[in-house]
Formats: sequence, C-alpha cells, structure tokens
Amino acid sequence: MEKKTFYITTPIYYPSGKPHIGHCYCTLACDAIARYKRMQGYDVMFLTGTDEHGQKIEQNAEKEGITPKQYVDRVAQEFKDLWKLLNISNDKFIRTTDDYHVKAVQKIFAELYRRGDIYKGEYKGWYCTPCESFWTETQLKDGRCPDCGREVKMVSEEAYFFRLSKYADRLLKLYRDHPDFIQPDSRKNEMIRFINQGLEDLCVSRTSFSWGIPVTFDPKHVVYVWVDALTNYITALGYGSDDDSLYRKFWPADVHFVGKEIVRFHTIIWPAMLMALGLPLPKQVYGHGWLLFGDGSKMSKSKGNVVDPLILCSRYGVDAVRYFLLREIPFGADGIFTNEALISRINSDLANDLGNLLSRTTAMVRKYFGGKIPAERESAPPDDELISTALALRGKCDAAVGGYQFSAALTEIWKLVSRANKYIDETAPWALGKDETKKARLAAVLYNLCESLRILSILLAPFLPDTAPKIQAQIGASADELTYESAGKWGVLPPDAAVTKGEPLFPRIDVDREIGELNRLIPNPAAKKEETPAAAKPEGIAPISIDDFAKVDLRAAKVKACEPVPRSKKLLKLTLDDGAGERTVASGISQWYKPEDLVGHTVVLVSNLKPAKLCGVESRGMILAADAGDDSVKVLFADGVPAGGRIR
Ligand code: ME8
Ligand code: MG
Repeated sequence: MEKKTFYITTPIYYPSGKPHIGHCYCTLACDAIARYKRMQGYDVMFLTGTDEHGQKIEQNAEKEGITPKQYVDRVAQEFKDLWKLLNISNDKFIRTTDDYHVKAVQKIFAELYRRGDIYKGEYKGWYCTPCESFWTETQLKDGRCPDCGREVKMVSEEAYFFRLSKYADRLLKLYRDHPDFIQPDSRKNEMIRFINQGLEDLCVSRTSFSWGIPVTFDPKHVVYVWVDALTNYITALGYGSDDDSLYRKFWPADVHFVGKEIVRFHTIIWPAMLMALGLPLPKQVYGHGWLLFGDGSKMSKSKGNVVDPLILCSRYGVDAVRYFLLREIPFGADGIFTNEALISRINSDLANDLGNLLSRTTAMVRKYFGGKIPAERESAPPDDELISTALALRGKCDAAVGGYQFSAALTEIWKLVSRANKYIDETAPWALGKDETKKARLAAVLYNLCESLRILSILLAPFLPDTAPKIQAQIGASADELTYESAGKWGVLPPDAAVTKGEPLFPRIDVDREIGELNRLIPNPAAKKEETPAAAKPEGIAPISIDDFAKVDLRAAKVKACEPVPRSKKLLKLTLDDGAGERTVASGISQWYKPEDLVGHTVVLVSNLKPAKLCGVESRGMILAADAGDDSVKVLFADGVPAGGRIR
C-alpha cells in the first residue's frame, strides 16, 4: 500500500537581515510536526526557503556595495546553516532566485495573463517597502502601514493587475465550506471582515526597481514579490517544470504554517491565484502568533531588536532552545520571550524533571543491579497508574500534534515525567534496596521507570531529536524497541538491556550569574524602551504610572495543597505559602488545571487584594494567569523564586 503523504511548509523568509529566533519559531514548529508525521509513517515533504526578490533586498545590497545576488547568496547561506544547527529536517530548501522557480513564475504569470485574470492598468497608491505590500488610503492606520506602523510612500506607475476582486465570493464560500481552512478561528473572522470591506484588484508588477522576476512579455516589469513568493509552494515541487512528479504526489499542501501578519496573503491572494489557475487549494493555513519581548514589542529584523539563536544554542544547546520555543507558547497565541523564562524552563523542566528522572533511574539500576534489571519482578498497585499514564501518552500526543498543538503534546509528555518522578517517591526504591527480600519488587520499580523513559523518549524525539537518543542509549533500548508502534506497548524493553551512565542531559544553570550575562548578550527591551508597533500594542487600557503599579503587592507563593471547590464548576481552592504563612485563594481555572498540576509549583500572588467569598471559600488574594489564545488559560509560574519573593 502506498504511504499517506503529508506536505508542510514554512513561510519563505526574507533574507533582508540575519535570521532570528522568530524565524526559528515557525521552522521548529514545522520540523516537530514533520518529524512526528514521519514517525507515524507518513511520506512527508517539509519545505522551507528564502524569498529573495524585492526592493528592500536591492536597497540592502546597494548599501553594502554588492549585487543583490551576492547579498542573498550570503544571507540564504546563513539561514541554511542555522537550520542545520537547529536539526531542521526539511526535505527541500527553495530560493526564489533558483532558476526553475524563476521560469515557473514566468509561466504562471503569462498563463494568468492569457486567461484574462491579469490585465494592464495604472497603479496609484501607497507602498510599504519593508513589508513589500500595497495599501489603499482607507487601509492605512494614521497614514502609516497598518501591519508594521512604518511610513508608506505614494507610488504611481503602469502596472499589471490581478483580478482579485472577482474571487471575493469564492473565497468566502471556501471559508464556509472548509471551516478549518484558516486556523485559529479568530484569524478567519479577520479575513472575512477584510473581504467584506471590499477586495480590490491587486497590483502584481513593478517598474520602479529591477530586482525581481521579469515579466516575459513585458520585461521592464518585474513580478510583484508576493506573487513570486507564494508560488514557491508549488514550484518547489516542480510545478511548471519538466518534472512535476513531486507536485502530483504532494500537492495540495496539508498545511502552510505562517505568522499571523501574513495570513492575509496566504488565505486571500494565494487561494485566489490557485483558483485562477484552476489548481487545488491548500488544505489549511495556520497563522501562528508572534514572539514578543516583555514590553509587548515584536521581535523583528527590520527593527533590529532580535534574539540571536546562535548565542542561545551555543550556551544551552539546541534542544533547550527547541524545547523552550515549542513548549512555552501555545501555537496560535503570541508569546513573550524573556531570558528568565528560558532559563527557568531549562532548569525546572529539562534539568530537574526530565534530567533527574533519567539520572536517578539509571543510577539505581547500576547501583542495585549492576546495570541489568533481573527478569524476576513483582508488581504492586502503585504500578497501575504509571503504566496507564504511559500507555495513554501516545494517543494524547497524536491528538495534540494532529491539531498542531505541540505545546500540549509536550505538556502531556511532561505529565508522564512528573508521574514517574512521583512514582519514585511513592515506591522509595532506596528503601527497597536495603531489604534483600524486596529485590523482585525493586526490579519491577526500576523496570517500570525504564519503560516509562522508553515510551516518552519515542514521543519526545520529534521535539528534541538530540536528547531522545541520549535517553534511549542510557536505558539500553535498541531500534526495535523504539518504534512508534512500540510507544503504545508496555513491557518491550528486554531484560538484558544494558543501562549505562551518561552525561547529565541538561546541566543546571546558575540563574543569577547567567541572567546577568545573557542580558548583556541579548537585547532586553523591557529595560531599553522600544517603539511598539501598532499591531502589538495591547488595546484599550489606559497607561498607569509606576506608582499605580507599586500599589499591587505581587509575591511568589508556593502551592501547598489544592482541591476543587465542590459547589463550583470553575474554581480551585489553593492553599498557598506566601512566605509569611498560609492563606487560601480561590481561582477560576479548573477547566485548564488539575490540582496535581499546581501542587509544588510557585505561582504569582496578588497578595493585597481585598478578601472575597467565592462559592463559600474565603479567598485572600488572587493568582495570575494569562489568556493563551483559543480560549485557553495559563497560570504564570514563578518556580525557583522562594515563597514571599517580591515581584516587581
Ligand atoms: O513575511 N515571532 O518573510 P519574513 C514569531 N517573505 N514568528 C516570527 C517573528 C516573530 N517575532 N518574526 C518572524 C515574509 N517570524 C515573506 C513570506 S511566504 C510565501 C513569504 C516568522 O522574513 C513568522 O512565521 O518577514 C513570519 O510569518 C515569518 O517569520 C515572516 O518572515
Ligand atoms: Mg516580516
């Protein structure tokens, strides 16, 4: 039987500056999905690349006194090197200066002209060079680019137009008939509003600069860079060339991952172009959120305030960076990048939870059994929950990855990590080890831990491709025991598996020392004061002074106990250690958190909030949580901060 195919793409990035952590974010997301799908047996095509034409590139090259081609050759190589460093498993890298792409774009443009969907006219309007996008007067925000907030300029020239207006109804019908075409849903509503405001025909050629693909039948025109760029998704597969076998095999794409600022291009212009060509449409466009700095400003290369992934990888390793980006931000939502959050994730999730689970397990197998767990084993009731959690994991990860919620998949994997750590506490293997008559029980406990590690390492591999094999080597698992199928089975690791000691997976970081160092190396605009782009500004809340803010007493508080409030569907009752003593706080988060997700963690407490009675619970204070998009809520953790620590 032929394998099912899966085609996933990143945007092709502008090589107008160094690649930054924002580009990494989308590429890593695609990579995790591509790897997971391969593991599930799909025949995957994973495409990324660079979008190399346009005025901005021409200007950058001129500033450096080199040709545009020399310029893009250099930066495209930087992107390729970065993807290699980050273990990106793309099957192809397209550059829009590649000969086959140029030829195919020329064919497509001529074909649209032949069909009457491209016609010649005059363009008059506003142009934002950094975004390479045209705007009508009404679309401008305060006379500036509505996307990036920068200046636009009036241009007027003879140009070709694409009959975009003609496709308005078919686009609306597409969204209606295929409710999943645009994800998340909130972005779909934006696009419907945009179309309902009236679609104008799109200017698709330029004569005012030359760094682009010439229109074959009118060569003083170059093809508008977005038309050039969007077609990459099919030209990369050989569409319009002598060999279009990959196109026939993989098109239509299963999903285009793009940042939210370019959803419009992918869900309006791109499907309209494909409709005009009579080609199938991609199945889905997923618009992910932005990485923001702590002050809400977007990281963007044209603003120069970017986080350099090379610095992070060299300090913490590639998998730590992969983990942070994939775990911290639910896909679709914006997320805040801070050096503190990065280090705290590394310390708590990677070094502590995962690293310790592995090192404790392997150390005990060596200590008590010389590295080989005896086959004679005695099970006991605490095993059941661990085993059922482990066996349920694959299904949970499949579901999360199926909805492109890799953060949720990692959360599930870490639930097993936590469950296994708790199992160590429950079974106290060090006590069993002291008692000769408990050898068989000890063997079972350690075997169950190794099995848990085996299963979670399989499902972790698409996310942390360097780390998973290290775990697998230490528990002595071989390839047959590491298949996707075997992640759904218990008892697979053979008795003669040799458990060995390896380097710690993730060394713990000294937070205080490291933060100081990192803030020097990486921009921290929360401290610097940056211009905030219009789109990223939180809306509708009046500015306050620092004195207003100081009235709020925020404290780190450790969750000692937690239980549902019987009379409420939403509330959890938390017992907190606030440094000075214990207090009770009710929080409306039971839809998203179970008590065991919170106990032992440190949260952020508004400690001077007036007490209130909620469903019979006297609540003293409130804990902070954030809207994480798509109706989900995330509690803000301050793990590592001692209870009572002032947050300001
Ligand atoms: O738009 N947070 O290229 P581009 C999250 N060439 N993701 C970010 C980000 C941030 N701060 N900054 C960038 C283009 N990205 C066009 C695309 S596709 C046919 C043509 C990611 O270099 C995000 O995925 O501006 C965004 O959409 C993409 O990089 C834009 O890269
Ligand atoms: Mg951009």
